[in-house]
Amino acid sequence: MVTLSIIKADTGGFVGHSAVHPDMVSAAKEALSAAVTDRLLVDGATACCGDDLSLIMTHEHGPDAEAVHSFAWDVFRQTTRIAQQLGLYGAGQDLLSDAFSGNLRGMGPGYAELEFTERPSEPVVCFLADKTEPGAWNLPLYKAFADPFNTAGLVIDSKMHAGFRFEVYDLYEEKRIWFDCPRELYEMLMFIGAPARYVIHSVESKTLHEQAVATSTQRLSLIAGKYVGKDDPVMIVRCQSGLPALGEVLEPFAFAYTAGGCMRGSHHAPMMPVSVRDAHPARFDGPPRVVALGFQVHDGMLIGPRDLFDDPSFDRARAQTNEVMDYLRRHGPFEPHRLPLEDLEYTTMAELEERLAERWQPMPQAAVPAPR
Ligand code: F6R
Ligand code: MG
Ligand code: MG
Repeated sequence: MVTLSIIKADTGGFVGHSAVHPDMVSAAKEALSAAVTDRLLVDGATACCGDDLSLIMTHEHGPDAEAVHSFAWDVFRQTTRIAQQLGLYGAGQDLLSDAFSGNLRGMGPGYAELEFTERPSEPVVCFLADKTEPGAWNLPLYKAFADPFNTAGLVIDSKMHAGFRFEVYDLYEEKRIWFDCPRELYEMLMFIGAPARYVIHSVESKTLHEQAVATSTQRLSLIAGKYVGKDDPVMIVRCQSGLPALGEVLEPFAFAYTAGGCMRGSHHAPMMPVSVRDAHPARFDGPPRVVALGFQVHDGMLIGPRDLFDDPSFDRARAQTNEVMDYLRRHGPFEPHRLPLEDLEYTTMAELEERLAERWQPMPQAAVPAPR
């Protein structure tokens, strides 16, 4: 069995919240190669999307392993020190605690981990997003694993015809449920269509009994009880041979669907699939970016990556993103561009309510609708 772990954190932005400084990436690379030499890891790579630094690692310790999580924590402490030395923005933003204790749950960094027995050929995609929320993966996962208009294999591949099981988290009440699809498609959509609260955590093939997907599902604002940065999720998707083909996994991103995030984590904005080179949200701190790094995992080694959205066939999605962004931006502080009050990451509402409490007066009688 091999475990693929993506552990990521924003430990300082260059400039503002737009990118990771190259010195931080170099330090993380060195730490990864030392961990491979020390045999903690089989292989490791770094990748960045916006101001988030991801450590992409293979190892034999399983998910939630203390050794791997504490290694990542130490790397992020080191990149925080570099960010502090360079005066980068929000140094150590995602490190919510001073001391590591067992694993990274609730400590700030996000992670997606998937343990599997390597198939003879093991194509995987590591998706990294910036300026959006964990529920941003709901729509593309639904399309790739449950929508026959996206995924031809659901209809014409006998290994996919039985469908997939989706594990969904309720982030507000911290509970989870499994949906058996296609049988329970409509039930599931009622929940995952509200991605600020319900988030797909994993997907499993009903025919192969293989886990195909793992997402990061931490929601920093709820963990910390105050705003500490958007969650900027990552996800691992295994492809082919009875799982959706690579092209079926990427296809949902050809549509510039909107997600919560962008400026101050408080706006709906379209998801822009981009190459690593273009993964630097700038306009209105957005639009949210997503990169897709393809690897062949072989004997635990990460053969790759291929920068999968570095492809002209996603040009239209990028153009559509810019159009949708123009349209939404013209709403300024109005919904649906601005998130509903309960989903805002930043708010002045409590303060305003208190300050204006005395000024509210009953409506004049004429304006009050008569009782029926
Ligand atoms: C959103 C994000 C940015 C910041 C914004 C304000 O996820 O990271 O949009 O929220 O730049 O940042 P502060 O409050 O640090 O000035
Ligand atoms: Mg940041
Ligand atoms: Mg970020």
